Amino acid sequence: MTTIRRWTPSVLILLAGAVLLGPHVFSRASAAAGVPQKNSAPAQQSAVERGRYLVENVAMCGECHTPRDENGQTDNSRPLQGASTWILPVHPSTKWAAHAPALAGFPGITEEQGEDILERGRGPNGLEIQQPMHIYHMNHADATAIIAYLKSLPSTYPQQ
Ligand code: HEC
Repeated sequence: MTTIRRWTPSVLILLAGAVLLGPHVFSRASAAAGVPQKNSAPAQQSAVERGRYLVENVAMCGECHTPRDENGQTDNSRPLQGASTWILPVHPSTKWAAHAPALAGFPGITEEQGEDILERGRGPNGLEIQQPMHIYHMNHADATAIIAYLKSLPSTYPQQ
């Protein structure tokens, strides 16, 4: 009896600790294990952040999709607002697009079409995507992160 009396408070303290800490420990563990946090605001936020990193630092989409100023520098006051193609092919090609469309706000095409372009290199409506746009073979997570980022950008500037 005395033993039980002595142990009861410690057991209660342990139980209370487990109840208080449990959700933190388990949610951390599931996040660390990569369990998808379905469409929660933080998950969406981190997709947008990853998309920004891929667009700005890895794939450099703005090199072609951001207009350039008179000195040939990307005009960062109009990010991803669409631009005339400034790169010319060494060998003239009929499949060379003169314009890289606006990407900010992801206007004009659906998310599915965007995924087709970025994951399979297929243009909208089965059209061949023209050079100098790359034929990307991104994984689905990267493509959707990029689209989420592009959709988060304002597309208020006039297209070039
Ligand atoms: C080297 C230049 C270049 C780079 C870099 C580039 N693009 Fe493009 N992109 C183009 C051109 C040019 C077109 C137009 C192609 C056409 O008309 O078939 C295009 C077309 C597109 C389209 C189709 C838009 C529409 O409305 O039809 C999407 C979407 C797109 N690019 C997304 C991206 C993304 C996202 C990146 C970065 C991950 C990127 N592009 C990087 C040049 C580029």
